[in-house]
Amino acid sequence: MLNIKYELVENRKAKPDENSLGFGRYFTDHMFIMDYTDGKGWHDARIVPYGPLSLDPACMVFHYAQEMFEGLKAYRTADGTVQLFRPDKNIERMNNTNERLCIPKLDPADVLDAIKALVATEEAWVPSLEGTSLYIRPFIIATDVQLGVHPSHTYKFMIILSPVGSYYPEGIKPVKIFVENEYVRAVKGGTGFAKVGGNYACSLIGQKKAEEMGYSQVLWLDGIEHKYIDEVGAMNVFFVINGKIITPSLAEGSILPGVTRASCIELLRDMGYEVEERKLSITEVEEAYKNGTLNEAFGTGTAAVVSPMGLLDNGKEKMVINNEEIGPVAQKLYDTLTGIQWGKVEDKYGWTVKVK
Ligand code: COI
Repeated sequence: MLNIKYELVENRKAKPDENSLGFGRYFTDHMFIMDYTDGKGWHDARIVPYGPLSLDPACMVFHYAQEMFEGLKAYRTADGTVQLFRPDKNIERMNNTNERLCIPKLDPADVLDAIKALVATEEAWVPSLEGTSLYIRPFIIATDVQLGVHPSHTYKFMIILSPVGSYYPEGIKPVKIFVENEYVRAVKGGTGFAKVGGNYACSLIGQKKAEEMGYSQVLWLDGIEHKYIDEVGAMNVFFVINGKIITPSLAEGSILPGVTRASCIELLRDMGYEVEERKLSITEVEEAYKNGTLNEAFGTGTAAVVSPMGLLDNGKEKMVINNEEIGPVAQKLYDTLTGIQWGKVEDKYGWTVKVK
């Protein structure tokens, strides 16, 4: 067991209205912090009042973005207990990201202890209204005070919590997506497969452009030929073409290996659908649209859950998918996945983990 010191607040904050949580706007009373020092390893695990940090302006994270993060959720079930969804998968990805960014790895058991301990401390913050959850954001920053470009020798691992509703204001209603053909998010050999802030920083310009045109997010194409579909900013993507489900494969290393993505592939196959993980060109989607075989498109992610895409704009044509309505595959997937997460559907996969 991770040895965690507790410094608890005397007065807890008022909780926000569960009907208008949005995404990532409210934070709980406490946060988890653990430090790393070369030669000493990870040390001083603590749960302390949530609040600003005091950091030297020369800290490496501010200059060279040696930073990683994760995202998972805690769900309140009908009997009031709180459970996590596949935390082992997020923790595994966390260490894969750490390896890519030269951040020291964490003991997976310690990370799970830390998540459980913080969520248990903040149990009253786990909302119970349908469609709500407690978003868990673990992250690590490099804290060496120096301007040379080298891996840091000191880090802070932190976890903060935010009660959330749906990521998109649209909720489960289909979102409009712009196919980005100028900027790219990731290339083979880069950090596309890792969960690093830098990937999102470089995506902002495309996101801003898309939002100004009235779209929710950008569909990123591969960084070399601008031909193959990678992912949407906050989610992996799936297309239903002629009854078959296709999702871009992870082989190039430019796509985030989503925990929700992997779970959805398994659920869909168990439902009897054929799922192909392979290279998928935007042309193939455009052709399916033209010949009427583009049945559905949807994204998956921890924050986004299962979000149908109702319109894809490739700059030449606005492709309206399934009359901008959620399709049967996305609906069934959403119901099954969230059913398991909220404890309404039997978890025959062993994906859920009780917090206490
Ligand atoms: C998540 O789905 O947890 C994410 O991290 C996506 C996004 C909010 C950055």
